[in-house]
Amino acid sequence: MSASLSVIILAAGKGTRMQSAKPKVLQSLAGKPLLGHVLNTCQQLTVDETIVVFGFGGDQVQDQISRDYSEHRVTWVAQTEQLGTGHAVKMALPHLPKDGQSLILYGDVPLVSQKTLTELQAANTNGLSMLTLTVDNPFGLGRIKRDDNGLVTAIVEQKDASENELAICEINSGIYCVDNALLHKYLPKLSNDNAQQEYYLTDIVKLAVADDVVIATIEPEHAFEIEGVNNRQQLATLERSWQAKLVEDLQVAGVQFADPSRVDIRGSVTAGQDVFVDVGVVFEGDCKLGDNVYIEAGCVIKQSTIGNACHIKPYCVIDNADIGAGVDVGPFAHLRPKSQLADRSKVGNFVEVKKSVIGTGSKVNHLSYVGDAVVGDNVNIGAGVITCNYDGVNKSQTTIEDDVFVGSNSSLVAPVTLGRGATVAAGSTITKNVDEQALAFGRARQTQKDHWERPTKK
Ligand code: UD1
Ligand code: CA
Repeated sequence: MSASLSVIILAAGKGTRMQSAKPKVLQSLAGKPLLGHVLNTCQQLTVDETIVVFGFGGDQVQDQISRDYSEHRVTWVAQTEQLGTGHAVKMALPHLPKDGQSLILYGDVPLVSQKTLTELQAANTNGLSMLTLTVDNPFGLGRIKRDDNGLVTAIVEQKDASENELAICEINSGIYCVDNALLHKYLPKLSNDNAQQEYYLTDIVKLAVADDVVIATIEPEHAFEIEGVNNRQQLATLERSWQAKLVEDLQVAGVQFADPSRVDIRGSVTAGQDVFVDVGVVFEGDCKLGDNVYIEAGCVIKQSTIGNACHIKPYCVIDNADIGAGVDVGPFAHLRPKSQLADRSKVGNFVEVKKSVIGTGSKVNHLSYVGDAVVGDNVNIGAGVITCNYDGVNKSQTTIEDDVFVGSNSSLVAPVTLGRGATVAAGSTITKNVDEQALAFGRARQTQKDHWERPTKK
């Protein structure tokens, strides 16, 4: 059996500088709470136990995370007073096995990658590995001290550092992989005899070195992986770094962005070849795009699949929809959850579709509401047609069979079925089923009064 892997996520800080009623680790990056990113990354590793050390706003954090990330089994550990990172990890000790390893992560450092953590774990051959980075401006961060042989000897915090130590540009990310045996041994020994009177987790490095533990270091692939969030500016900067990375991955996969800096991906996008995405498009949840999909400006696309060669015209909102191949949508169309558009169908401007199937080659081109409907193939739904699916209490179904033609400005009062090949005259209110191939009128006959004189003002 391989040694166990635990993850300890420190998340007790208040995040005062966010100026928010929300605990910092619940602030959103790319549509997901900071802590959610860390949990999702951990899920890609083989983790035996995930411990979150919480403090400020603990109830709120536990409520939201247990609800939205219920697939993660989290052990919650309270740290009522924030006495330092060493103290925070010490709170987790009762939950840590005597052997095995722990990854130490942070609820406000959301973007560390699975690849980096796997490498960090592999680098821990002697008891302790850490993630460091050489940066231009190390201000505020712990500095990595090395001896003449280049071996790590200690981490010195900014506030405790000498002039010489301040000149060191290799910084501590705060992310480590440590043998649990070392944590059990060293954490009870930490003191707070330093400039900040905190129990520094970083002091375990000195203690390990004194025990002849050779400390391994690795660097992350991307600098943003170790960046933390303390204020709104840093949150926005990190959001941009992450967006740039997601866009770059898609560019490598063959997607053309009109402007890579004017698109947001709040979730994941997979795409085929020769996809074009214009400015101001927002993707949410998990979206799948086929080949040759063309998405114009200002669309919001959430948790949807869009087939090959679809054309999504400007300013569409597409939410939980499944769109076949060669479909045209918009401009200004609203596809609400459980909309299914079959191949070569068309949903045009100011059309709302909800929980409906639009069959192959069928068209709903202008100003319509189609809800709770099953529309067959080659149907034409004229401008302004409404399915009246709601009587104030119940939702009812409209069935429109293949080859039906619904004239403009008709109301289809559900439940109702229009049989195959039926025609509905424009302006009809249809309350009864229409037979196959029949023509239905549901409107007053036109009458005429000749030589009509309009009333005049006295
Ligand atoms: C820490 C490291 C520093 C490193 C830096 C990287 C120490 C002593 N220093 O410094 O070497 O360069 O991170 O960002 O570890 N936290 C708790 N409980 C506490 C204290 C902190 O949960 O009692 C959490 C905070 O919420 C935060 C994280 O630990 O997410 C880091 O704490 P912070 O006090 O900001 O450490 P730094 O001073 O940044
Ligand atoms: Ca910090």
